[in-house]
Amino acid sequence: MTDTRIRLVEPKAEISEADVTRLVHVFYGRVRADAVLGPVFEARLAGRWDGHLARMVDFWSSVARGTGRYQGKPHLAHRGMGLDAAIFARWLALFEETARDVCAPDAAAFFVDRAHRIADSLMIGLGIGPKALRLPG
Ligand code: HEM
Repeated sequence: MTDTRIRLVEPKAEISEADVTRLVHVFYGRVRADAVLGPVFEARLAGRWDGHLARMVDFWSSVARGTGRYQGKPHLAHRGMGLDAAIFARWLALFEETARDVCAPDAAAFFVDRAHRIADSLMIGLGIGPKALRLPG
């Protein structure tokens, strides 16, 4: 019989605050230089990148270290940007590449797993991508 239980990837070693900060800063540095993602982020974050980076460090610190520092509403934050499945795919590819470049292998696997889960959730909320709810009527 097929085992359909969901397996959460957990890091084997503790992820430090320095690991989180490095990942976030290198990732958004690459986002800003990316031909697809750069303009989408710049349109929204011009002049307030520092606050975004600090918020994203808090977000990933909460996810990876359970620090509870992030208390925002990511679903609301992503509305009104015209995001589609292709932009999410580019975000995920760049995030995965960055995590593998800057993190230990088990930490990278953890971050990539969580990024995919959260991206799925965001896309479902935005009604885009293959898992979007398509209600009758
Ligand atoms: C298509 C891909 C994505 C784009 C273009 C994008 C873009 C953005 C932008 C522009 C903001 C700033 C909103 C604002 O302050 O006005 C933001 C916030 C945020 N993003 Fe994304 N994002 C993407 C995917 C993701 C994914 C996959 C995650 C999580 C794994 C994520 C997590 C967050 C969080 C936590 C915030 C902060 C929300 C808040 O509390 O204000 N984003 N994103």
